[in-house]
Amino acid sequence: MPAQRNRSWPARLHVVTGKGGTGKTTVAAALALALAAGGRRTLLVEVEGRQGIAQLFGTDPLPYKERRIADAPGGGEVRALAVDPEEALLEYLDMFYKLGMAGRALQKLGAIDFATTIAPGVRDVLLTGKVKEATTRAEGGHRVYDAVVLDAPPTGRIGRFLNVTAETARLAKVGPIKNQSEGVAAFLRSPMTAVHVVTLLEEMPVQETADAVAELTSLGISLGSVIVNAGRPPLLTDGRIGQAELRRGLVAAGLPADRDTVAGLRAEADAHLTRLAIEDGLRADLGAIGRPLIELPWLAEGVEAAGGGEPVGLLTLAEALSAAGTRTATLA
Ligand SMILES: Nc1ncnc2c1ncn2[C@@H]1O[C@H](COP(=O)(O)OP(=O)(O)O)[C@@H](O)[C@H]1O
Ligand SMILES: [Mg+2]
Repeated sequence: MPAQRNRSWPARLHVVTGKGGTGKTTVAAALALALAAGGRRTLLVEVEGRQGIAQLFGTDPLPYKERRIADAPGGGEVRALAVDPEEALLEYLDMFYKLGMAGRALQKLGAIDFATTIAPGVRDVLLTGKVKEATTRAEGGHRVYDAVVLDAPPTGRIGRFLNVTAETARLAKVGPIKNQSEGVAAFLRSPMTAVHVVTLLEEMPVQETADAVAELTSLGISLGSVIVNAGRPPLLTDGRIGQAELRRGLVAAGLPADRDTVAGLRAEADAHLTRLAIEDGLRADLGAIGRPLIELPWLAEGVEAAGGGEPVGLLTLAEALSAAGTRTATLA
């Protein structure tokens, strides 16, 4: 089947960032499942050597090789890849200088000390270059992937990671590194790419979301949506509860309804209402950023697939992402 762009999520490369621990890896995986649904094929990529994807899907560590990691609803397929900068460099040397075996020999001899000799900028251009290559790869006149989802570095480093391509182009005045850098820089600034920022309804991640959006905008990098992860539904929707009402409820449930119990419950209810008011404020701050907002629920059962079984939690989040995409229909 020829690759088709998803009208609700038109980008081909979806970069998922966010403050560490907000659910970047989880949301990236759920998005890869959502975009593969209905017989499509997506690639889920990680670049930081954490093996977070393998852990999430309950599989063995990922090699530097694309391989099927999950079925998507309706016959689609998600493949996964852990990009290793060392392997990416060898592939790159091979492509441009036909170094092939010689490159590997250099590696064996320890002549290429990757950790110390590759400038961070070059390392990043190798990683983003590999991601661009997978996104644009075609076989038999058709794109191999309908979409690629990148579990990217966190908000604090995302600007440098994605901008380095332009910096490297300046660093290397001529030659394949310069061409590669310019190609990647243009790709990341085109409508083919969208960066989504994952956050929680908490002060720090919301602040980092606003900062990252401002930074990426100034770099000319295409933004997608702001994804609020792990939201809990409000327990109280009708405002404050009176003492009498609490006491009646406790009595009706056959529970102790002494003065201390009632006062304790009342304090908890008030704290919850205060929390809800803070969350509303943070939601308004996120709204002011001016990107589409998508809210994903907190899953009490967790999201990790047990023993390579069905990723039930991820599928729930994938469904929520698809539904949100259809609702807004303008998501990048
Ligand atoms: N919607 C959710 N509901 C419940 N737990 C979640 C949800 N999203 C993420 N988690 C859990 O939160 C933790 C951090 O998520 P992870 O995706 O690894 O974050 P990051 O990649 O940003 O560090 C993990 O234990 C994950 O299972
Ligand atoms: Mg992660």
